[in-house]
This record gives sequence, C-alpha cells and structure tokens, in this order.
Amino acid sequence: MESTKPLLRALRRETTQNVPFWFMRQAGRYLPEYRELRAKSGDFLKMVYNPAVACEITLQPIRRFGMDAAIIFSDILTIPQALGQKLEFLEGEGPKLDALRSGVDIGRLNFKNFESTLSPVYEALRQTKSALERGGFSNTALIGFSGAPWTLAAYMIEGGGSDDYAIALKFARENPKDFMALMDTLVESIVMYLGKQIDAGAEAVQIFDSHAGVLSDAQFESFAIKPIQKIVQSLKQKHPVTPVIGFPRRAGNKYEAYAKTAGVTALGLDQGVDTKWAAKTLQPLLSLQGNLDPEVMLRGGDELKAAAMRILDDLSAGPFIFNLGHGVIKETPVEHVEALVKIIRDYKRA
Ligand code: CP3
Repeated sequence: MESTKPLLRALRRETTQNVPFWFMRQAGRYLPEYRELRAKSGDFLKMVYNPAVACEITLQPIRRFGMDAAIIFSDILTIPQALGQKLEFLEGEGPKLDALRSGVDIGRLNFKNFESTLSPVYEALRQTKSALERGGFSNTALIGFSGAPWTLAAYMIEGGGSDDYAIALKFARENPKDFMALMDTLVESIVMYLGKQIDAGAEAVQIFDSHAGVLSDAQFESFAIKPIQKIVQSLKQKHPVTPVIGFPRRAGNKYEAYAKTAGVTALGLDQGVDTKWAAKTLQPLLSLQGNLDPEVMLRGGDELKAAAMRILDDLSAGPFIFNLGHGVIKETPVEHVEALVKIIRDYKRA
C-alpha cells in the first residue's frame, strides 16, 4: 500500500492539505543539544559513523519541530572516504581531502572497504526508522542522501572547498578521460550507496549537487544531468517507486533542462530561483522543494514571515515541500526556526 506520509504524497505530486516541510542541515550546530553531543564526541566523523549517535542527532530536530522528514545525519564526503581517499574535518575549516591530481591518483580509488566503511550509515538508517515509528513520528518520512558526481569530484580533485572549483574544472578540461573515469566510479558508488540506504529504510533520497553553479551550459549537460540520468535509471531497476530529489544548487536558468531531462521525481530549488517562474515552468513537470534564503531565517522577524508567505503563496497550488534554499546557518536562533514552523503549519492552501 502507498504511504500516506505527507512528504511522500507531495513527492507523488499530490497536494496535501498542509504543506509538508523539512530543512536542509536541520540537524546541526544551531541546536544546543547537537553542540552538547559534538563537544562530548569531539569529532564530526566519529559521530557520523556511530549509528546510535547519528540516529540520536537525526531525531533531535524532529522532537523539537516535528518535521515531515528526518534526513539521516551523515555527510556527502563519506563516499570519497569509502573509496579510500583520506578525509578530515579540521575545526572551523571544513573538509580536507588528499587531493586527486592525476589519473594514477584516480586509479587508486577502490571498492575494497566501500561497504564496511558505509555500513554504519545503513545501521543508523535502520535505527532511525524504527525510532521514528516507536517515538510517535509515524508521519515523518526518512530521507537518505548522497552528493552528486560533480560535487563529489570537485571536492576530491580540489582537496576541499573552493569558491570556483577552478582546479577541478581545469583537470576536467585537460584530462577528460581520467575525469570521466572518476565520474563513472562515482556514479557506480552513488547507485550502490543510495540503493543500500533505501534497503535500510530510506523512503526518499536526495542528491546534492551543491556546486552545480560553477558549470557552463555544456558542462552542466555532461557533468550534472547525464550522470544523474544514469543514477536514476539504475536505482529504478531495484527501487522503481522510491522518489529521488535532485538539488542542482545555483543552476539558474539550467534548472529547466534539469527538470525536463535528469529523470528525478522532485527538484530542490535554491534561493536564487524565482518562485513564480518555477510555479509556471517547473512545477507542471515535477514536485518542487525549497527555497527560503537561510539568511532570512537567521534574521527572523517580519521579513521571515513575508518571505515564507510569498513562497507558500507562489508554490502551494501544486506539489510542494517547503525547505530552505541551502542549509540552516549555525548562528540561527532556535526561536526563528520555531516561528517559521508555525507559519508553515498555520498556512492553509487556497
Ligand atoms: O541536512 C542534514 O541535517 C543532514 C546532515 C548533512 C550534513 N552535511 C551534516 C554536516 C547533510 C545532508 C550534509 C550534506 C553536505 N555536506 C553537503 C551538501 C549540502 C550543502 O551544504 O551544499 C556538503 C557540500 C557537505 C560537505 C561539508 N560537510 C562541508 C563543506 C562541511 C563544513 C562546513 C560546515 O558547515 O561546517 C561539512 C560539515 C558538516 N556536515 C556539519 C554537519 C552538521 C558540521 C560539522 C560540525 O559539527 O562541525
């Protein structure tokens, strides 16, 4: 039987009475209970690979705000690590990887420890699924996720975050064969990883292409759309009905091509997308999710109310999931999140 969870109904293009919602990075440093666990554990990756801790952190925002989805507490950089690339999170600096700079480096990636590295994530999903059921959150759907091939490749080649991913783009231009070999390895990895997350209880999956915004039109077609088509097609063989949410952040006017051709069930919008344009152009094609500016939630007040109402008015006539345009900023006051949740819950569709 089909699930009646509001998030899953919205992903089936149904318009539910209330607009379902969740927030990217809803589990994290803006929550005092997260900071407390983080201080005790001392290490972000240790928490990610401890199923009981990852489950607990996943549930923290659900207990406070009752979101329609719990997204498993993890990170997109688990895949590079599972392929044998060294990964660290340096305090206040973000991720650092041993940069891949040649075909030889790429050739060293391997699947030997892939499943053993990632199995704690699957266990965390199983524990979270049963905790949601036992804890009275039977309307909250469980979301699994992965980075998209381009965004993962960008981190793996650069060795960390960057404004423009110039090194990764230069590598792709100068070493197209090696770069495509890396992309193929990532497509295969993501299909396995998401498939196993679904087996472990994920009811929908989101693919984060956080750095899609640096790609030209031609690159977007080959690095952001084509690999997602392959992933969706492969996933569908074993999991024909599990919804896939694509999030090509900052894709601008390329959102339309992605909506038409990537094959995803739903589309995550960043805050740069005009919601009236999206309602007209994208929403007839698929369910939409987004797109409140996290900075507006950080500031709160009347501006937050007005911005949230505009998004709800523009997008709630069709299949829609309220979310932010990017992750919750760590300085966001919990009261602002509470205020936003009330606005969404009080909103009545026309
Ligand atoms: O959304 C959720 O609540 C689920 C958990 C989640 C995290 N990272 C936890 C996290 C998800 C879905 C991600 C995805 C992720 N990770 C992305 C895609 C989304 C985006 O932000 O564009 C990216 C690019 C990453 C890589 C990453 N992880 C970076 C660049 C950083 C450092 C920057 C930062 O905010 O600290 C992380 C660390 C990270 N991932 C934290 C959390 C809660 C902070 C870790 C800490 O406690 O210090």
